[in-house]
Amino acid sequence: MSERVLTIEVNGEPHRILSSDNRTLLEVLREDLGLTGTKHGCDVGECGACSVLMDGQPVLACLVLALQVGDRTVTTIEGLAADGNPDPVQKAFAERGAAQCGYCTPGMIISSRALLDGNPDPSTEEINTALAGNLCRCTGYNKIVEAVHLAASREARP
Ligand code: FES
Ligand code: FES
Repeated sequence: MSERVLTIEVNGEPHRILSSDNRTLLEVLREDLGLTGTKHGCDVGECGACSVLMDGQPVLACLVLALQVGDRTVTTIEGLAADGNPDPVQKAFAERGAAQCGYCTPGMIISSRALLDGNPDPSTEEINTALAGNLCRCTGYNKIVEAVHLAASREARP
């Protein structure tokens, strides 16, 4: 398998990496950049644990080849906090106890962030739809939905 030098922007920083063509964005994030907040679950696009934002849209990093990223910007869970302050969705998850084992949590938060960026006041049904690709084995869905509503209500305040 051939290798090439790739430049990808992750969390606002450009990175140059040497990667074989068949490596996924998930592998590069975790193994080359040390961004292990993005979780390695099923590896086949079914669990949502590897969700990241690419140009603000949620994607499954296990299904994206690193060489496909190109000029698009990648945001991982580590990139959501601004100036050391957690994203409002992260805060709400903590306050509502929306993480149990926590394995699904980064992906849930990434998908929730993308939802609120496009729809600041989602209904419960819209939250469920947005998070349908993110599986939680701990069955903590009610608290997760509550947390998204809480984050939305806070962000809506002037
Ligand atoms: S690890 Fe990517 S969807 Fe499960
Ligand atoms: S909190 Fe354990 S998988 Fe969701």
